[in-house]
Amino acid sequence: MKHIVTTAVALLVMSSAAAFAQQSIGQQEYMNSCAQCHGVDGTGGGPMVGYLTGSMPDLTTLQSENDGVFPVTKVYSVIDGTMAGGSHGSREMPIWGNRYRFKGAAAANPDFSTDEAETFTRFRILALTEYVSTLQQD
Ligand code: HEC
Repeated sequence: MKHIVTTAVALLVMSSAAAFAQQSIGQQEYMNSCAQCHGVDGTGGGPMVGYLTGSMPDLTTLQSENDGVFPVTKVYSVIDGTMAGGSHGSREMPIWGNRYRFKGAAAANPDFSTDEAETFTRFRILALTEYVSTLQQD
């Protein structure tokens, strides 16, 4: 429960912060890391798709397929990819959580602690989750 509340608060803060920015961190990150597979609009038409064996999910219908509620926790854990639960079988999507943890740890400041790397990771994933929520169609 605490996690959900923290997530909700963070999403709220980020969406209002995003209103002031030309391009939100989530959008930049999506364009850099996700659009090549999921497509710029999230419907799954990225240039990498021809190299994948499975079918691409449509990210714009996550909310409508979940009774009109955007599945925050599910999207967060799919991006993180390191959380327990759900057998994905062979997964084609990269595990971004580990990648952001690595980037966080390797960030310019050598004093970057494990906690700070974790915060960096969570912020990235939350920003992405928030951006994916803006791609939803009714
Ligand atoms: C290499 C291609 C690729 C990249 C890059 C990629 N994905 Fe995926 N994504 C997939 C595939 C394929 C699936 C379907 C499940 C699987 O095979 O892993 C998926 C599943 C998902 C799902 C679950 C959709 C559902 O219907 O359950 C979400 C959410 C998602 N991706 C978001 C993202 C985000 C956000 C990024 C960028 C950080 C990203 N993906 C980067 C290929 C990719």
